Amino acid sequence: MASATTASAAAPALAISDLRKVYDNGVQALKGVSLQVEPGDFFALLGPNGAGKSTLIGIVSSLVNKSSGQVGVFGVDIDRDRDGAMRLLGLVPQEINFNMFEKPLDICVNYAGFYGIPRAEALVRAEEELRRAQLWEKAHVMSRTLSGGMKRRLMIARAMMTRPKLLILDEPTAGVDIEIRRGMWKTLKDINESGTTIILTTHYLEEAESLCRNLAIIDRGVIVEQGPMRALLAKLDVEGFLFDIDGDLPAQLPVIEGTTLSATDSHTLDLDMPRAMDLNRVFAALNDAGIRVRSMRTKSNRLEELFVRLTGDEAAAKREQAA
Ligand SMILES: Nc1ncnc2c1ncn2[C@@H]1O[C@H](COP(=O)(O)OP(=O)(O)OP(=O)(O)O)[C@@H](O)[C@H]1O
Ligand SMILES: [Mg+2]
Repeated sequence: MASATTASAAAPALAISDLRKVYDNGVQALKGVSLQVEPGDFFALLGPNGAGKSTLIGIVSSLVNKSSGQVGVFGVDIDRDRDGAMRLLGLVPQEINFNMFEKPLDICVNYAGFYGIPRAEALVRAEEELRRAQLWEKAHVMSRTLSGGMKRRLMIARAMMTRPKLLILDEPTAGVDIEIRRGMWKTLKDINESGTTIILTTHYLEEAESLCRNLAIIDRGVIVEQGPMRALLAKLDVEGFLFDIDGDLPAQLPVIEGTTLSATDSHTLDLDMPRAMDLNRVFAALNDAGIRVRSMRTKSNRLEELFVRLTGDEAAAKREQAA
């Protein structure tokens, strides 16, 4: 089976090098993008409107022709073996595009048939995927009657019918409320935990932070940052915490040098402190003031800060200056 076009276990799930795209109207959507996604990863591609995310996904999934550069999916080069690369990929486009008058089970089975999967096998897979997407009890209803969140989970179940090694989702949760997003996150986490590499584009930083291990931030066709989520967050020098307090807060909050401490309500404290500072000092001061911390969480706006810092006009001007 060892041929140039056989997927290799050791190869990255996605390897992109110096990818460029100039559309016919002259828009340079990608200006030399390189990135690598490891097998098993859950990877976020973040970027503002028009950054080039959909262009990149379109090229990887052979919907858009690249101007230059290389793309490999598990070691299969899309120029040398387009079909081979496509067989390893599942794509969930942003818009819901199944037939609303079909039933979820038929949508999944027919999709598999299109990819040459025998019907008996397709039925087994459809049950598995619809169950994973929490849709099995809806398998035989008209898809039109599914809720917005269910429709989106059906898009994911359908893409999984071919058992892709790499699942790519283009803004799967755009414009849906937090309840629906959380339901989809669960489905996506299950899929990733069972071994499928996932890449998603999103505008929701909270989503990237809660799902993804690695990310790249793209702006105006250029990757401006990439690496492990935690390493990126660690670059921020200020860290924010929320403390849940047992009992009442004292009238006067303790002053802890170098930090800002305030009460958001009668049993929540909001703290910003330099990243290098020791949290023990904070706990000691709270303890001395008779404040009992029941639990703490980090504030989730840090990625937002980073995002704002790295993208937009000011950041682009700085990049150009440095170049
Ligand atoms: N078919 C096309 N023809 C010409 N220009 C295009 C085409 N598709 C996209 N572009 C341009 O390429 C740039 C990148 O667009 P792209 O859709 O890749 O961005 P995006 O990051 O997916 O944005 P969004 O978050 O809004 O979906 C934009 O300037 C866009 O206007
Ligand atoms: Mg897009």
